[in-house]
Amino acid sequence: MLNTDIRKVVVAGAGTMGVTLTRLFAQSGYEVTLWNRRQVSLDKAKDRIQGDLAVLAEQGRITETPETITGRISYTTEYACYETADFMVENIAEDLAVKQEFFRKICTLVPEHIVLATNTSGLRVTDIAQAVTKPERFCGMHWWNPPDLIPLVEVTKGDLTGDEAARIVYDMAVSLEKKPVIVKKDILGIIGNRLQYAVLREVLHIIEMGAAGPEEVDAAMKYGPGFRYSVLGPLETVDLGGVDIFRAVSNYLFADLGAETRSPVLNDLADQGRLGVKAGAGFYDYGPEEGLEKIRWRNDLFQRQWDLLKENPFKK
Ligand SMILES: NC(=O)c1ccc[n+]([C@@H]2O[C@H](COP(=O)([O-])OP(=O)(O)OC[C@H]3O[C@@H](n4cnc5c(N)ncnc54)[C@H](O)[C@@H]3O)[C@@H](O)[C@H]2O)c1
Repeated sequence: MLNTDIRKVVVAGAGTMGVTLTRLFAQSGYEVTLWNRRQVSLDKAKDRIQGDLAVLAEQGRITETPETITGRISYTTEYACYETADFMVENIAEDLAVKQEFFRKICTLVPEHIVLATNTSGLRVTDIAQAVTKPERFCGMHWWNPPDLIPLVEVTKGDLTGDEAARIVYDMAVSLEKKPVIVKKDILGIIGNRLQYAVLREVLHIIEMGAAGPEEVDAAMKYGPGFRYSVLGPLETVDLGGVDIFRAVSNYLFADLGAETRSPVLNDLADQGRLGVKAGAGFYDYGPEEGLEKIRWRNDLFQRQWDLLKENPFKK
């Protein structure tokens, strides 16, 4: 029997994902310890969490005071925090050897009956599990960035993950007001990244064929399929549009879709150092404050979109 009475959560890794997850757990009432091997990242994390909570308070999006929420968070570089954890989720570097070394170490410390989760984006849960004692309690918990605003959590079962562990991760996501989906097989890219990259491959193919530029394909996605997909999944879309229509189109279109395994456009951008908002340029150019402004604009729309979806399910 695994522990289902979860109060103390340890978030391992104070990077992009770990910091926001720490705030999310604390906002949802958990006592949370953010563990990182270096203190400097923890100091930055603390500032970031305090700053984010101040903004949320100003927007009226939290019901407790920032001080009440931060009162549930501790920051540490000490491994002792693992000895008293009820649940842990790992968010350290996306590198199999690094993750295995980390789990080998903490498995000597954590209680035997707690669930250990990894936020790996693409590594196989089964491979990381080679370093885990009692691998039936080890499960993927794949969030989407920013994890406080995107509802999906993919609960990925490795070959040895038990149903009980997957259920606990699922319930944990629900308790954080997220939308978990159980993935029964340990497939590369899980579900979300397979979909995202299938679309990206086609978008790059359209640009490489010279049929449209970045602005046109982004607009076509946002105002067409993307607009629809925020409400309906692809299969619900087929049912509403008509299976016969989708069959007729798929019969001539599937064979014409791009199937390249490397994209010249993406490789050229990366080689030129146009790495996106963080570099001030990617497909588009960004002024000094523009990247941050765009992130804030996105966050506000994501929040409102999620509120709208939560408040309006198809069937109550
Ligand atoms: N950024 C995303 O969009 C995103 C989305 C979903 C999942 N993920 C996954 O979450 C995990 C963390 O990603 P991130 O974007 O927060 O990364 P990040 O680079 O921002 O942070 C990584 C953290 O890992 C720590 N770390 C690095 N090497 C370590 C080691 N040897 N031992 C202990 N700690 C070490 C670093 O100190 C840092 O705090 C990765 O597995 C990533 O694939 C990322």
